[in-house]
Amino acid sequence: HPKALLKAIQEEGDHLKNLAEQHIVSADQFTRDELLQLFRLSAKYEGNPERFSSPLKGKILISAFYEPSTRTRLSFESAWHRLGGDIMSITDRSTTGIAKGESLQDVGEMFNNYGDCVVLRDSNEESVRLMMNSLRIPIINAGNGTDEHPTQALADLYTILKWRPGLISDCENTPKIKMGIVGIPNKMRTVRSLLKVLAIFPEFFDEVTVFHDGSNTQVFDEGQIEHLQNKGLNVSVSTELYDKLPELDIVYINAIAWVGNTFESFGDKFVLDSNAPLKKDAIIMHPLARGEELSTELDTTSHNWYFSQARGAVFLRMALLTCMCQRTERVMDIV
Ligand code: CP
Repeated sequence: HPKALLKAIQEEGDHLKNLAEQHIVSADQFTRDELLQLFRLSAKYEGNPERFSSPLKGKILISAFYEPSTRTRLSFESAWHRLGGDIMSITDRSTTGIAKGESLQDVGEMFNNYGDCVVLRDSNEESVRLMMNSLRIPIINAGNGTDEHPTQALADLYTILKWRPGLISDCENTPKIKMGIVGIPNKMRTVRSLLKVLAIFPEFFDEVTVFHDGSNTQVFDEGQIEHLQNKGLNVSVSTELYDKLPELDIVYINAIAWVGNTFESFGDKFVLDSNAPLKKDAIIMHPLARGEELSTELDTTSHNWYFSQARGAVFLRMALLTCMCQRTERVMDIV
């Protein structure tokens, strides 16, 4: 699959040089050309996992996770290690000056002295911007409260393009996607960022339906759905997942929203298991961690693209880190 994607995306221009030293804050800060070239580099890494140079040798990543994580922290750290760099990791805010009331701005000022790039996860929506006030090294938003998780969204779209590379190379004959997203964009940062990334490529999608259970939760922020529609994404809202399921090509499901210092779960409202009336060749995506909304019965079926999605995130993050922090001029020549 990465090889098919590599073939589908032509190398065009040197768009990746725009990402050097950039802060990564939001999923909609990227251009279409930057993303396609980033996915091309990701596919080069994924197609060649044993053989690449060490473009980040001698560089230090500050991996600051003030909120729990399995995939994001470890995949960023795996990516940095695979690129030859060194890592300093914070996994517990109570072991840092933050426990004594130190501001993120002051922490950022110190980080300038210790490393070459920061990956930050924090429950506070303002955390990334607060640290950016004093940072002179690039920062990646690895999840800021209910706001955004941009690199998850990039990994999600990378997965979709590996599944259907014809969207780029043979768009005339490749059917557009009917996608269902089970989640609440107003509360779930993965879903908010995913929708922003999908809106950069609206022509890939016949329709995108956001499913919720009809309870009183506000599904979208004010103006959010209109903003996506204005960008050309055919997005709508529904409560009838099971009626629509037989038509969907992709079902993206998530049940956890991190709110404040804890999480809310919407896991018992919609459940995908072996009885779900899925289209034969439909794929299921999930940012994980999962709860009862996604049965392990589906792990051994061809619907399971969520493990591939998690694996691909390592190569996507390798590509992004290379563009942001490498020393040489031409990132495409690195692999
Ligand atoms: N997808 C994701 O953000 O997972 P973690 O919370 O384990 O990092």
